[in-house]
Amino acid sequence: MNFRYDALPMRVVFGAGSLSRLPDEVGAIGLERILVLCGPRQEAVGKQVAEALGDRCVGVLPEARMHVPVEVAGRARAVAAELAADGCVAVGGGSAIGLGKAVALEHGLPVVAVPTTYAGSEMTPVWGLTEDGVKRTGRDRKVLPVSVVYDPALTLSMPVGLAVTSGVNALAHAAEGLYAPDGSPIVALMAREGIRALTAALPAIVAGPEDAQARADALYGAWLCGAVLGATTMGLHHRLCHTLGGTLNLPHAETHTVVLPHVLAYNGGAVARELDGRSLWALEGELGAPRSLRELGMDAADIDRVADLVAGATFPNPRPVTRSDVRDLLHAAWAGTPPPG
Ligand SMILES: NC(=O)c1ccc[n+]([C@@H]2O[C@H](COP(=O)([O-])OP(=O)(O)OC[C@H]3O[C@@H](n4cnc5c(N)ncnc54)[C@H](O)[C@@H]3O)[C@@H](O)[C@H]2O)c1
Repeated sequence: MNFRYDALPMRVVFGAGSLSRLPDEVGAIGLERILVLCGPRQEAVGKQVAEALGDRCVGVLPEARMHVPVEVAGRARAVAAELAADGCVAVGGGSAIGLGKAVALEHGLPVVAVPTTYAGSEMTPVWGLTEDGVKRTGRDRKVLPVSVVYDPALTLSMPVGLAVTSGVNALAHAAEGLYAPDGSPIVALMAREGIRALTAALPAIVAGPEDAQARADALYGAWLCGAVLGATTMGLHHRLCHTLGGTLNLPHAETHTVVLPHVLAYNGGAVARELDGRSLWALEGELGAPRSLRELGMDAADIDRVADLVAGATFPNPRPVTRSDVRDLLHAAWAGTPPPG
């Protein structure tokens, strides 16, 4: 056995109703002037968070958008400076947390994350900013949230379709963490437990969207998968999804959902014991998830362009990747044909 394990600092409060512990949490960190960040569709939750924070909240900015456009980041940074904020609470999915990270990147303000999807950004030091349709990403420890409050009650409002696709997005982190070159036994434990929790919880959520235990189990799994994402370097799957999202603006969680079974089948034995492509594809069918890039709006004419970009990029993967492999994989994912068993 040969590995290196470089743990990221992690402070987590988990449990239904834990939003009520947010004031103590920010108090423990020493924050007094907090700007709450959220997306426009989650303004009500943003206000709920502001209320929970009481006098410690100096404003709510409900302007987070997918992939953190630079103009939105600029506005959040200006508002934070104007209000003399000493920290941000980002409540929402990866888009809201990404906005918090953009403020942290420029001003060094600590971010407390209150995730409401399973995307996992709250567990990583990775930031992203989009300008003129091009997304830049980077790693910086100062954008890693100083504390994460996971309240499954806030995920009950997540539509079942988003719960499923966001859950598969989380599974993708765990799957690629299992074969990452910088994986380790502790990361593998988190990945396997995350996969176990999510694959059990997602069918229960589809069967009963109000099932609070299933929602809690899924969020627990998502936390572990996010921690795997933060600890390892992702492979072919994340490279494909990043390229599809960046160049064609395909929706994030749905794209992960369509692509993952095909990459797992391609990488074969590397993760077959935990999650194999054909079984995941069948599970997605039972859960009513999208299974073709065509239904996400991708044009077949774009397959070659994406294949060129992915084949020309450098990323670790357990199986070598050629342009024609990527092309074949993308074609199957576009058409929605089952991956090889
Ligand atoms: N930096 C990282 O490490 C990292 C990791 C994962 C994702 N991301 C980024 O995050 C973004 C995707 O995040 P996402 O998939 O969470 O999507 P998102 O944050 O864009 O949310 C999708 C939609 O769901 C709504 N929503 C979120 N939670 C809800 C809830 N509980 N109830 C009802 N509606 C809810 C949001 O308002 C939004 O309209 C992408 O830009 C991706 O690149 C970054």
